[in-house]
Amino acid sequence: KAYFDDDANLDELKNKTVAVIGYGNQGRSQALNMRDSGVNVIVGNIEDGASWTQGKKDGFDVYSISEASKRADILFLLIPDEIMPSVYEEDIAPYIEDGNVINFASGYNVHFGFIELPETVDIVLIAPRMIGKGVRDRFVSGEGFPSLVAVHQDSTGKAKTIMLALAKAIGTTKIGAFESSFEEEAVVDLFGEQVMGGFKLYNLRMAYELLVEEYGFSPEAVLLELYLSGEGIETLRNAQEVGIWGQLRYHSTTSQYGHQTRGKYAASDASRALLRSIVENIKSGEFSKEWKTEQLTGYPVFNRLWKDNLKHPFIKSEQDLLKILNANKRKG
Ligand code: NAI
Repeated sequence: KAYFDDDANLDELKNKTVAVIGYGNQGRSQALNMRDSGVNVIVGNIEDGASWTQGKKDGFDVYSISEASKRADILFLLIPDEIMPSVYEEDIAPYIEDGNVINFASGYNVHFGFIELPETVDIVLIAPRMIGKGVRDRFVSGEGFPSLVAVHQDSTGKAKTIMLALAKAIGTTKIGAFESSFEEEAVVDLFGEQVMGGFKLYNLRMAYELLVEEYGFSPEAVLLELYLSGEGIETLRNAQEVGIWGQLRYHSTTSQYGHQTRGKYAASDASRALLRSIVENIKSGEFSKEWKTEQLTGYPVFNRLWKDNLKHPFIKSEQDLLKILNANKRKG
């Protein structure tokens, strides 16, 4: 089910103060959008320089996180997910009052149990399927952006009404706020990152090793074909208009044949089993536990993988080619 502007009423937010906690990628865009929608918005941030100063420059009343939490009826928790539990515990929880509304942009912490909230508040989710910059740009242009929305806990009886009003205020009901759940958002989001994102990175690296290092083809030819030409962006843009299979019609028939015959290998029983194990690993909470351990032990795997990947010859070739492409882009 999807909700649109007509399903929501901004009047529900009259006389309410919304505190945007974390004036970063999402926070800044959502705060500006809500203010433009007539909502009374304040900002809560650590005094970290950049975000704090930006909030003031944008004309908001910026407070410490605890002070903003104290003043708010509705809280948007828009700080990085891995630090949210401790910040919540220390600077937010002591100031939460009965009947407050707590809104998340990701289901992660609530679903996997890293944050426990009192029973006397409303807990809602508005998770934009859009980076922060797009949340603002598409509000200003009037296009809107899609989101997943959910009510996790309704203590006041008005959680859904308020959630929809907030969704309208940030500009997502313009195009569609889709009914979801904290679990669904968290699991599907991680799956997307790990499989659609992560597999792609290592597939590219493997293709480079095979075509450049093993078969001796030039890195330029290979990297332009794989992603650096920007053709992939066009493909995705077309897919958004006519669907992923519909866009295939814009390719040559040779390409259409190759896509469908060879692409099918990726849907083998072995890869289905692998993807299933990834879903299971996420759903069971194993992944989030592993990531928590990583954080508590000083990010050993995270740092090692970054180091390994950045020193791969693939990156040197990529950066050399980017230099050429960007130099000529600048010349116009
Ligand atoms: P961000 O990385 O831009 O950080 C937001 C703010 O956190 C910054 O203003 C920073 O000052 C503050 N911060 C950093 N360290 C802190 C600390 N130790 N204590 C208190 N505050 C601290 O965060 P982002 O990317 O906007 O993510 C916020 C939420 O939005 C997360 O739940 C994320 O999952 C969700 N989300 C993010 C999307 C994105 O495109 N970045 C898309 C959809 C959801």
